[in-house]
Amino acid sequence: MRDPWNDSELVRRFEEHAGASLPRAPLNAALCTTIAADRSLSSLLGHAPVTQQLPVLLLAAIHDQVLREPDRPLADWYPNLTPTPRDPHDPEFVGVLTSFVHERSPSILGTLTTRRVQTNEVGRCALFLPAFALVADDVGPLAHVDVGSSAGLTTLLPHYAYRYDDGPQIGHGPLIECSTQGSGPVPVAIPDVVTARGIDLHPIDPTDPTDARWLQACCWPDQTDRFQRLADALAVARSHPPTVEEGNALDEVGRVVSETAAGAHPVITTSWVLNYFEPEGRRAFVDRLERVAQSTDLSWVIAESPAMTPELPHGDGLVGEERTALTLVTWRDGERDARPLATCHPHGYWLHWHE
Ligand SMILES: C[S@@+](CC[C@H](N)C(=O)[O-])C[C@H]1O[C@@H](n2cnc3c(N)ncnc32)[C@H](O)[C@@H]1O
Repeated sequence: MRDPWNDSELVRRFEEHAGASLPRAPLNAALCTTIAADRSLSSLLGHAPVTQQLPVLLLAAIHDQVLREPDRPLADWYPNLTPTPRDPHDPEFVGVLTSFVHERSPSILGTLTTRRVQTNEVGRCALFLPAFALVADDVGPLAHVDVGSSAGLTTLLPHYAYRYDDGPQIGHGPLIECSTQGSGPVPVAIPDVVTARGIDLHPIDPTDPTDARWLQACCWPDQTDRFQRLADALAVARSHPPTVEEGNALDEVGRVVSETAAGAHPVITTSWVLNYFEPEGRRAFVDRLERVAQSTDLSWVIAESPAMTPELPHGDGLVGEERTALTLVTWRDGERDARPLATCHPHGYWLHWHE
């Protein structure tokens, strides 16, 4: 028999997520409210590994199923799949959702037991780009090493176009827009990135339709622009497949950075990945880079929350900062310098310069 406490705990998580999703994600909120009210739905999540029993995993598993069958009535509620989505408060919603999930529960259970929620936010390239431009001005062509790369979509940074505020478009490809406040080093061109590689514990292959669909399923359907941006980036990945090695960054980063250093100046990026490490792991990661930097000049672009990654060299003024901080760390002749550049939206929609 299933543990009744666990079922109650799952219900509590869905209720909590429903509250947290409003008002910016009304479909997510309605999905969670409906699931929380029906144990035949909420208990499905109990089949996922204990550490993965998060409401977003079941929402993604349902979304994945909807993406497979976009002609089914439930898709009419998904704002990313129809220009005129139905109101989540429509009384038909509960019945349509419940029968859709019940009819597909074997497939949904398969997803819950094998997949983990995984995202890849290409908007963060708009945060990396100013730092890349600064480094390239200093040292010339770059070799990008993205740590915690997921599907490797941010390694395709030179294949997107950018616009900061009302400025000119930079580069070619799907457009990533970013608004800024204050004055800072807004880039004027895409720097020369001669190689790009990623490292991830669990890489997603963006050229594999099933993997790509799962990445899309993990994107909240209410966030239509984010969904579109991901779809555009996946199209780029199909013509320029990223290179992402499977492995633990702590084991691989030194080797990968040393290998890339032969061709150009290595720039390491970490965006919303080091918060998943233990404090000891973050200290070890910094130590790995320090060691390589004793024999090779390198640069590290950090886009992480200082409050969640206090072991990183964010700069003294950012202690306890919850928001994403963009920091450029450079090693030249073994000497480390950390330059806080901006505080940012976690998905790259805006950045506020520090200078
Ligand atoms: C929230 S995602 C961020 C992905 C990407 N950096 C971005 O900005 O979109 C975090 C990624 O870090 C990876 N990851 C977590 N711990 C890792 C480790 N020790 N070594 C390598 N990758 C890791 C996860 O597998 C996941 O793909």
